[in-house]
Amino acid sequence: MAVHDMTRVNGSAPLLEVRKLRVSLESGKTVIDGVDLTIGRREVVALVGESGSGKSVTALALSRLLPAALRMTSGSIRFDGQDIVAKSDAELNRLRGAEISMLFQQPQVMLDPTSRVQAQVAEPLRKHRGLGRRQAFARVVDLLRSVGIPDPAVRARAFSYQLSGGMAQRVMIAAAMAAGPKLLIADEPTTALDVTVQAQILRLLKEERERHDLSILLITHDLSIVSAFADRMAVMYAGRILEEGPTQEIMRRPAHPYTRALIRCSLLVPESDGKLMSIPGSGSQALAIKEGCRFAPRCTLMREYPGLRTACCSREPELEQFAQHWACRCHATAEGLQEGDVA
Ligand SMILES: Nc1ncnc2c1ncn2[C@@H]1O[C@H](COP(=O)(O)OP(=O)(O)OP(=O)(O)O)[C@@H](O)[C@H]1O
Ligand code: SF4
Ligand SMILES: [Mg+2]
Repeated sequence: MAVHDMTRVNGSAPLLEVRKLRVSLESGKTVIDGVDLTIGRREVVALVGESGSGKSVTALALSRLLPAALRMTSGSIRFDGQDIVAKSDAELNRLRGAEISMLFQQPQVMLDPTSRVQAQVAEPLRKHRGLGRRQAFARVVDLLRSVGIPDPAVRARAFSYQLSGGMAQRVMIAAAMAAGPKLLIADEPTTALDVTVQAQILRLLKEERERHDLSILLITHDLSIVSAFADRMAVMYAGRILEEGPTQEIMRRPAHPYTRALIRCSLLVPESDGKLMSIPGSGSQALAIKEGCRFAPRCTLMREYPGLRTACCSREPELEQFAQHWACRCHATAEGLQEGDVA
């Protein structure tokens, strides 16, 4: 079986290619351990997994925005033919906002309450596109209109503390799209919003993707959003990708026992904070497992099929491609075993 390799998505060179990304704490503890991630042009890729699995750290690492406590220790990140790891701080500054934009969970926290909407949306236009004050204002009004903000010329003069959560996220999207980026990294962009506003924001992101040939890395706990929105999904656990492939196929026939458990939990009633119901057991010690599969202590498939135990507890599985554009890190999948096969 071929080792997982997807250097090409939809027949063309991908926009983003992350290979063997490792991120560690100052103490040396590894939190991201050899992550591969590929995003094609105009593709939406969802990154899912339990809290603490490393989704946000991966997103921050690939735009080289890691907090001081964390550092990238190895790996390569290629974006649109450019080597992101080799770039200077000045080059990265030019890239961020212009070619790679980010959207976060709490728009009201990200917006400066003491500054007017126009200043915040105009910043990338002035910084990356060199527009003067008047041109920038006209463009800000257009952008606010395009993200569905009523009375855009009036709202442009408002302070961000005067905006509702949904309006603030629309402003953040306008700012993120202002300079015409190729990649949007959206980390839980709708989690803090109520359900109706969530749907509006997702519709808006879809429109932006169509209008601007945008690629999106979407981080979310909500598998119904993944199902409705993402072309491909990658499932993360303890700093590793366990399964990656076409969303609809994974949702129909998840290959990895962890993905299966996540999907099963997502069909139950969500917790009040909108996060997934939890899978029995904890993943917090999984990074410390040095031999065998990191999911083994929680894996029902291994317990039901003793023949797997030796391999599962002694050798960590590779992320291997087992169908077109579909890869899984599990000895059972490599053996062609599914949960239903177990006697
Ligand atoms: N600033 C930081 N300093 C130290 N450790 C950190 C920092 N940020 C993240 N970590 C650690 O890195 C690991 C991955 O965290 P990360 O925030 O990427 O998880 P996540 O998958 O985004 O979780 P959530 O779904 O809760 O947002 C966790 O063990 C976390 O404690
Ligand atoms: S490798 Fe073994 S323990 Fe790990 S997920 Fe697969 S069956 Fe379970
Ligand atoms: Mg996170």
